[in-house]
Amino acid sequence: MNILAIESSCDDTAAAVVQNGRRVLSNCVSSQTAMHAIYGGVVPELASRTHIETISSLCSQALTQAGMETADLDALAVTYAPGLIGAVLVGVNFAKGAALALDVPLIPVHHVRGHIAANYITHPELEPPFVCLCVSGGTTAIVDVRGYTDMSVLGGTRDDAAGECFDKVARVLGLGYPGGGALDRLSEGGDDSRYSLPLAHVQGAELDLSFSGLKTASLNLIHNAQQKGENLELPSFAASFSRAVSDALVPRTLEAIRRTGYGRLAVAGGVAANRRIRADLQRSCTENGIALYLPELRYCGDNAAMIGCQGYYEYLSGHRAGPELNSYATRDISLG
Ligand code: KG4
Repeated sequence: MNILAIESSCDDTAAAVVQNGRRVLSNCVSSQTAMHAIYGGVVPELASRTHIETISSLCSQALTQAGMETADLDALAVTYAPGLIGAVLVGVNFAKGAALALDVPLIPVHHVRGHIAANYITHPELEPPFVCLCVSGGTTAIVDVRGYTDMSVLGGTRDDAAGECFDKVARVLGLGYPGGGALDRLSEGGDDSRYSLPLAHVQGAELDLSFSGLKTASLNLIHNAQQKGENLELPSFAASFSRAVSDALVPRTLEAIRRTGYGRLAVAGGVAANRRIRADLQRSCTENGIALYLPELRYCGDNAAMIGCQGYYEYLSGHRAGPELNSYATRDISLG
């Protein structure tokens, strides 16, 4: 089954052709990062307009790279939530029009389910059930993946996502946007115990997380040093910060695995590229006999291959879009 998948929920336009859920025939991404960087964050209106300008040619490019024509497609899959509403609607309406014109089914895919499915591309042997740690710019959640389309959130952030916290701190340090990767690289050779940063606990919800206190404490530390004319040891600060995020994520994830008894952990989302978090997960999983699955870096960030992959399983479960897809996209749909 050949699926043309479309992703436009934030600042990257993406199109891919995926065969039978696991074989990526093409994966095209048009990044808007440079355009938004001058504003220090994504400007929703600019994102939507650029999606409109890009989406049609990017879909053609995805088909050409896959060596296919529209007649070879069996279905379309599209991210319908969550995301910037104007941006999501560009992809949704393009996909609706294309599906209608080609007379093929349209499959709505939840963006975070797509991030989880990125692991199936890198690890063809991976099958549910497993626990997935989803960490991106907009989401931080520990998910019980019971089946390909049967999942529930075991714990999540009560405020900021981990990636958002990385980006805000990086911006104040002048590392550009999105600065998570730059902050990660800056930590090279730093002393992770040089700066003490707070670790939040949500009482009564041991698997939930909170990053707003860490963000505020980090920003205060930077501003205080600037006001006093003190030099922050930047690699050590970056290392201490990455450690604080990892110390919040890793023990809760291990507790979730203990509770489910699955013995398998997958990781998803852009922050999954963080070296400290990867290393801590690797060590903890080895110590506890847990199989760890990390997606290839090119499938960690936003891409459409992951949407095509998850779209296949949504299709097998009977999920199809009705005329209500636009109103879906305007509501906040839960992952589980
Ligand atoms: O999954 P993603 O590409 O987009 C969303 O759906 O949010 O994630 C982007 C996030 C950004 O916050 C970015 O700064 C962060 O992932 N990120 C990192 C690293 N690489 C990307 N954060 C920490 N360390 C990294 N190496």
